[in-house]
Amino acid sequence: MAMDRDGAMHPRLTVLTHPLVQHKLTIMRRRETSTGEFRALAREVSLLMAYELTRDLPIQNVPIDTPLEPMMAPAIAGKKLCIVSILRAGDGIAAGMLDLVPSARVGHVGLYRDPVTHRPVEYYLKLPEDVAERLVIVVDPMLATGHSAAAALDRLRRAGCTNMRFACLLAAPEGLKVLGEAHPDVEVFTCAVDRALDEHAYIRPGLGDAGDRLFGTK
Ligand code: URA
Repeated sequence: MAMDRDGAMHPRLTVLTHPLVQHKLTIMRRRETSTGEFRALAREVSLLMAYELTRDLPIQNVPIDTPLEPMMAPAIAGKKLCIVSILRAGDGIAAGMLDLVPSARVGHVGLYRDPVTHRPVEYYLKLPEDVAERLVIVVDPMLATGHSAAAALDRLRRAGCTNMRFACLLAAPEGLKVLGEAHPDVEVFTCAVDRALDEHAYIRPGLGDAGDRLFGTK
C-alpha cells in the first residue's frame, strides 16, 4: 500500500494514499452519506489502516502440520496488540481494526474538555492488565487540536506503555504539531491532512462531527 511520509508537520507521520482508502474517505466526507454508510466505511478504512500499522510486527517461525507434512511457518511473535479507543468516536475505528486483528485487546479512555481551562479531563479509563507489554494503537477518527490524543498518550505512558502508535482518519496541521511536540516518538497514521481548524476546533474541510456521523446523534 503506497504511503507518503511528510516530516514537515510531524516527525513520524504516515499518510495512507492508497486509492481505496482515499475513495472511501471521500464518500465519508460527503454531507449526504448516511449514518449506516459512514459507519461501514469507517470500519473498512480502519481495517486498511490496521494493515499498514501492523506491517512491521515481529514474526517467528513456529512448527505446524499441514495435511501433508510438518513445516516451520511464520506467526506473529509475542504479545499482540492493544487498541485503545478514545471515547466515543474511537470505537468506530476500533471496530474495523478488530475485524483484522480479532485477538487484540481493547482499552478505552474517556476525556472531556474542561469548559474553563479547555484542557482534557479524564472521566473513564479501562485498560488490559498487561497493556504495558503490548503494542498500543490509540485511535480517534479526528486529530483536531491534538490535546485529547496527547492526554491519552500521557495517560498510557503513566500506565507503563512504551510502544505506541496513533491512528486517525483526518488530521489537522495544528493537532499534528501538538502531538509531535508532546510525543515525538509516537508514529502517526492518517488518511489525510486537512487545511486547518476553524474557530470551533472543527477540521476543515473535514467530515463534520465524527461521533455524530458514526452514531447518528445529530
Ligand atoms: N472532532 C470531530 O468530530 N470533528 C472535527 O472536525 C474535529 C473534532
